Amino acid sequence: MRLFIAIDFSEENKQQLSVIAATIKQHASRSRQVEPENYHLTLVFIGESADTDGIIEIMDAVAKKTHPFSLQTDQIGRFRRPGGDVCWIGFAKNNELLIVQRMLESALKNKGFDIEDRPYRPHLTLLREAVVPGDFPDGYFDSSLPSVCQSVSDIRLMKSERIKGKLVYTSIHSVNLTE
Ligand code: 2AM
Repeated sequence: MRLFIAIDFSEENKQQLSVIAATIKQHASRSRQVEPENYHLTLVFIGESADTDGIIEIMDAVAKKTHPFSLQTDQIGRFRRPGGDVCWIGFAKNNELLIVQRMLESALKNKGFDIEDRPYRPHLTLLREAVVPGDFPDGYFDSSLPSVCQSVSDIRLMKSERIKGKLVYTSIHSVNLTE
């Protein structure tokens, strides 16, 4: 199974985020919009693993040491890719987010999971394969866009699969943040 640990967003926030995606899309000559039901913020990408019990044990332990917190959108960004860029929305710096991410990543690594060694860049992908103006995202994040604030009281283990060509993410375990 292809797995990752993520934060989910409310239906209302997914709707607001899709408005932001549609606004960015207007500036792109080509792009593929992520399905709003698939919006999420990844904490750790695990990749192929069958050890869901091992992951759940780690999630449960980390969640007991973490307070609920909130995420506030504060920027639009772009990862450059050869076949078209990734456009994403980012969040105001948040220590709880970084702490829970670090605890999960280091516990998974300690338990032998093969987690990529690259800096964590919290982002929620809105568009893929996007061809956008060269100066994007400068000046594209402004007060005309909806402001999205998400309370985070749980983290999810997500399964990623392609069903009839469509990318489907399913939550297979959810644990409340309870410190
Ligand atoms: P992305 O949106 O920038 O592609 C499921 O694929 C989730 O894990 C996505 O949020 C994806 O980020 C993230 N992810 C992180 N590293 C990944 C990798 N090496 N391969 C696929 N997805 C990855």
